[in-house]
Amino acid sequence: MSDVLPDESARFVRVAGPQPDEILEEMDEYAEENGFPHVGPEVGGWLALLARTVDARRVFEFGSGYGYSAYWFARELPADGEVVLTEHDPDELDMARVYMDRGGFSDLATYEAGDALEAIERHDGPFDVVLVDLRKDQYPDAFDAVREKVAPGGVIVADNAMTAGPIQFEKLLELQEGGDPDDVNEHTRGIAAYLDAVRAAPEFETAVMPIGEGISVSHKERR
Ligand SMILES: C[S@@+](CC[C@H](N)C(=O)[O-])C[C@H]1O[C@@H](n2cnc3c(N)ncnc32)[C@H](O)[C@@H]1O
Repeated sequence: MSDVLPDESARFVRVAGPQPDEILEEMDEYAEENGFPHVGPEVGGWLALLARTVDARRVFEFGSGYGYSAYWFARELPADGEVVLTEHDPDELDMARVYMDRGGFSDLATYEAGDALEAIERHDGPFDVVLVDLRKDQYPDAFDAVREKVAPGGVIVADNAMTAGPIQFEKLLELQEGGDPDDVNEHTRGIAAYLDAVRAAPEFETAVMPIGEGISVSHKERR
């Protein structure tokens, strides 16, 4: 599978949803020109809407790259809000700093250079929104690490729930349907295990939305 949505439908979602500002457009061009796997504008708009829906004040990202998804979140946060960006490539994190500063969001951003799975251990919850967008075989560990830190009524969004460069879509579908395909790579297994884990977690309700490369949205009960 290459595209989850046909191009015309993706264009529709893009024009009908929250609109990027000039800096997000510039960041999008950077991704196009450099082949960077950002979440893209359709998913960005949905991240913004989800943050708004839960009145998000604190956001944690596993895998921030040069700050594209974090910037979409930052636009929705109150002045005392926080978005924690984690990234093991220091050059990407430096780019994120520049974009966030230009957008006027420097006071909202906390930067964690290094492994996101180590960074989460340094931050107490609660987080209203969590984005899981790190290496695909690490998704189950990210869920384990953050599960208790999600605020009641908060959401965990996982990008690449359906596809990505290394994901074997047909095998992922077969795993979802209870099959046992051969030769499944670790990234596909990681996504499958993540989806199994969030679905099995009684405090979360999960649904997959077919935009971008597929996002999984898990809502935590309010208690
Ligand atoms: C698919 S990109 C998306 C970045 C961002 N969410 C966006 O939409 O632009 C994922 C990023 O996570 C970083 N990454 C992957 N695994 C990581 C880990 N364990 N710790 C920190 N960064 C990680 C990669 O270097 C990459 O920049």
